[in-house]
Amino acid sequence: MIVLLYASLTLLASAVSAYEKVCRVTPLGGGQDDGPTINNVFAECASEATIVLDGYYSVNTLLLTEGLSHVDILLSGTVQYTADIEYWSPNSLYLTFQNATTFWFLSGDDIHLYGGGTIDGNGQVWYDTFNITGESATAGASTRSFSRPIPLTVGNASNVVVENITQWQSPNWNNFVYQSTNVTYRNININSFSYSSAPAKNTDGWDIYRSSQVTITDSIINNGDDCVSLKPNVTEVVVTNLWCNGSHGISVGSLGQYAGETDIVANVFVKNVTMRYAENGARIKAFGGSPDANSTAGGGTGYVKNVTFEDFFVYVVDDPIVIDQCYFTDASVCEEYPSQLSISDIHFINVTGTSSGAEGTVVVDLECSQECEDITASGIDVTSPDGPATYVCKNIASTDELGFNCSAPSS
Ligand SMILES: *[C@@H]1O[C@H](CO)[C@@H](O)[C@H](O)[C@H]1NC(C)=O
Ligand SMILES: *[C@@H]1O[C@H](CO)[C@@H](O)[C@H](O)[C@H]1NC(C)=O
Ligand SMILES: *[C@@H]1O[C@H](CO)[C@@H](O)[C@H](O)[C@H]1NC(C)=O
Ligand SMILES: *[C@@H]1O[C@H](CO)[C@@H](O)[C@H](O)[C@H]1NC(C)=O
Ligand SMILES: *[C@@H]1O[C@H](CO)[C@@H](O)[C@H](O)[C@H]1NC(C)=O
Ligand SMILES: *[C@@H]1O[C@H](CO)[C@@H](O)[C@H](O)[C@H]1NC(C)=O
Ligand SMILES: *[C@@H]1O[C@H](CO)[C@@H](O)[C@H](O)[C@H]1NC(C)=O
Ligand SMILES: *[C@@H]1O[C@H](CO)[C@@H](O)[C@H](O)[C@H]1NC(C)=O
Ligand SMILES: *[C@@H]1O[C@H](CO)[C@@H](O)[C@H](O)[C@H]1NC(C)=O
Ligand SMILES: *[C@@H]1O[C@H](CO)[C@@H](O)[C@H](O)[C@H]1NC(C)=O
Ligand SMILES: *[C@@H]1O[C@H](CO)[C@@H](O)[C@H](O)[C@H]1NC(C)=O
Ligand SMILES: *[C@@H]1O[C@H](CO)[C@@H](O)[C@H](O)[C@H]1NC(C)=O
Repeated sequence: MIVLLYASLTLLASAVSAYEKVCRVTPLGGGQDDGPTINNVFAECASEATIVLDGYYSVNTLLLTEGLSHVDILLSGTVQYTADIEYWSPNSLYLTFQNATTFWFLSGDDIHLYGGGTIDGNGQVWYDTFNITGESATAGASTRSFSRPIPLTVGNASNVVVENITQWQSPNWNNFVYQSTNVTYRNININSFSYSSAPAKNTDGWDIYRSSQVTITDSIINNGDDCVSLKPNVTEVVVTNLWCNGSHGISVGSLGQYAGETDIVANVFVKNVTMRYAENGARIKAFGGSPDANSTAGGGTGYVKNVTFEDFFVYVVDDPIVIDQCYFTDASVCEEYPSQLSISDIHFINVTGTSSGAEGTVVVDLECSQECEDITASGIDVTSPDGPATYVCKNIASTDELGFNCSAPSS
């Protein structure tokens, strides 16, 4: 049942894959749970194989596909998770960051997931439920009784390519890159919209954590939170050619949330991003300091260094360019206890378009609590619907290379 060597199927797979072993997952149909079969096929074809998912699969079991080595996953069908909150809250996989949980933990070395198919998070029930209960932990994270799982986590993995996949209605972040190196996403089409009046909250396109060499390119994202978010300990990231709509922007952070912990984000290059109807365009956010040695809302150390945002086309964006080194922190606390997380070597190049007017005439808002060093901007041409654009700066070590005149924050 597991290894089916249909002539046509072998032909199909061999056209795009190097492996002779082809394993197709046969759907059970009738709404039965295909999760166990998927897990079995991945276990049996974990090495030097092409796994074909060309049907409609209903999944009501955690997909734990680990230890893969040289595996192609041809997803031309649809993997749809059930909207069974009672099942998934205890049974999705809890990861160590922000109580993030996932429906599918994809792990191993040299994995290629592709094929034009769909991962359907069935998020509407989660959006509607969350809208009523509001049950969440710090920074919107899941709780044990109400998890909102991530449809695809590439975790503890290396040398992974995910391409030509559509992601539908994620209950939470769409993609999590977790403790991995060399992961590329290409031609991903993300649609996290809500059919009801309940918003599709926390539906980040990508979150990246403890990972390096991550590339995200040529993708379209319609969602309700960060388009891409770089969380603690992420280096060597390239983000190019994205079209983001309705999001919270390309975000570094938030960082520095936990006193006594060190968070690092470095060597990030972002280029050619269209950002429409968004809260932010390019953003860096770090918590302020804290008097509490055990604080979970600021006081962490570390740095953000060497980040370039280039060629952003913004349209109706509240805050096109933002550095906030006092994120989620009371202004007076931040004044007395500046952020311990340093921000330097940050470059904004060629950001053009329009703001929404949500911040009046302010189109650039660079506010540090300790000094931020080597911050440059050039080719910033963003108009505001409320009059001539203004630029706010605070604690920027040198404003010589900003190309605009700063004013102090109003409050
Ligand atoms: C995880 O969820 C528990 C409740 O189930 C909550 O107490 C805790 O604060 C959450 N952790 C984070 C990091 O959000
Ligand atoms: C990921 O790797 C870490 C460190 O090796 C390990 O502790 C953890 O159990 C792994 N996670 C999963 C879900 O396999
Ligand atoms: C990254 O992974 C891809 C896909 O497996 C591989 O072709 C490439 O050589 C890897 N790059 C590095 C630097 O290892
Ligand atoms: C991904 O889609 C593009 C555009 O349709 C196509 O050229 C490419 O061959 C596809 N890649 C794979 C691995 O199927
Ligand atoms: C979502 O919450 C808002 C505010 O409480 C409410 O007006 C709206 O009807 C809710 N929508 C749904 C689908 O529950
Ligand atoms: C820039 O990104 C858009 C997608 O938003 C893409 O259509 C376009 O080809 C990219 N431009 C370049 C020069 O790569
Ligand atoms: C873009 O986002 C806006 C605001 O969220 C939404 O009204 C609009 O339908 C979206 N456009 C597309 C093409 O999805
Ligand atoms: C991040 O890296 C720093 C320096 O190596 C380390 O001290 C810290 O524990 C790491 N934090 C996380 C969340 O992995
Ligand atoms: C800065 O980051 C870019 C993009 O990742 C990288 O190519 C470059 O080598 C980095 N520069 C330094 C000095 O590390
Ligand atoms: C911080 O936590 C440690 C260990 O839980 C405890 O011993 C210490 O008293 C706490 N310090 C403060 C200032 O709350
Ligand atoms: C920014 O845009 C200007 C005008 O279009 C162009 O001359 C310049 O090369 C661009 N800068 C970069 C770094 O791409
Ligand atoms: C900044 O202000 C000075 C003095 O008012 C003015 O001469 C200069 O043209 C302004 N620069 C820009 C880029 O607007």
